[in-house]
Amino acid sequence: MQLVNGYKLMDYAKEKGLVLPAFNTTNYELTAAIIKGYQSTGLGGYIAISSSNLKLSSPKIIADMVKSVMQDFSTPIALHLDHGKSFEDVKACIEAGFTSIMVDASHLPFEENIEEVKRTVEYCHFYGIPVEAELGAISGKEDDHVSEGDDKTNPEDIQEFVERTNCDLLAVAIGNVHGMDLTPNLDFPLLEKIAKLSSVPLVLHGGSGIPFDQVRRAKEQNLIKVNYGSDLRQAFIRTFGQAYEQNHNEFDIMSLSKDAIINVEERVKAIIAEVNGK
Ligand code: G3H
Ligand code: ZN
Repeated sequence: MQLVNGYKLMDYAKEKGLVLPAFNTTNYELTAAIIKGYQSTGLGGYIAISSSNLKLSSPKIIADMVKSVMQDFSTPIALHLDHGKSFEDVKACIEAGFTSIMVDASHLPFEENIEEVKRTVEYCHFYGIPVEAELGAISGKEDDHVSEGDDKTNPEDIQEFVERTNCDLLAVAIGNVHGMDLTPNLDFPLLEKIAKLSSVPLVLHGGSGIPFDQVRRAKEQNLIKVNYGSDLRQAFIRTFGQAYEQNHNEFDIMSLSKDAIINVEERVKAIIAEVNGK
């Protein structure tokens, strides 16, 4: 199957009443595990790669790899740029065939965030691709980027931000954190306020470590997408770490990579089922 356009995937989520996971990939093994996981649950969602990760693999390498793995499968999957940090990355991803984009200018002052999102939206909409933007600052570790800021999304900014940027999805900071070092503490009254004010569906970053009953509770507040990175990466790294602990002479990278795919796929399947309570 071909990559699905981000708008189509959003319609699919709304029709089926699903919150869609976005799993971050880095390499072939994670990519294969994510796509196989979607396929065996029969549900669609996002496969994502962050701007920081594009320093390791180019948008074209990632897009070609994802498209090639998807040839054998039939579940709807969109390829998403996660935490797009520059206009150049956005353009390179669109050119490579990504079907959904996030621009993360949340570290900039309000007006500059709006300007950056606006120009990304104008560019991406020309190609029929939806754009996710972020308002507020999510603390923690995202790939090689550590953010100290923990400014929650200000509900007073929502309507103006969404209206002026014309973004399609809104990532919120409500006590969610990136990585495994901090503990998430979701502010549900704030989320409820935001959901009432936002005309576009919401996105929750930092899925790893958020109890699933809280994700399902957030789903009731117009949540369409929840991002997972560290959880799968740990499953991947643990496979090699445990093998090395047992045998310091271990070098069978092929069979360990196959094991890693199986272990990550198990996490993918569990997360897909849990976020929707299936
Ligand atoms: O954008 C990606 C994420 O928000 C992943 O966060 O590593 O805490 O699951 P996580
Ligand atoms: Zn994130």
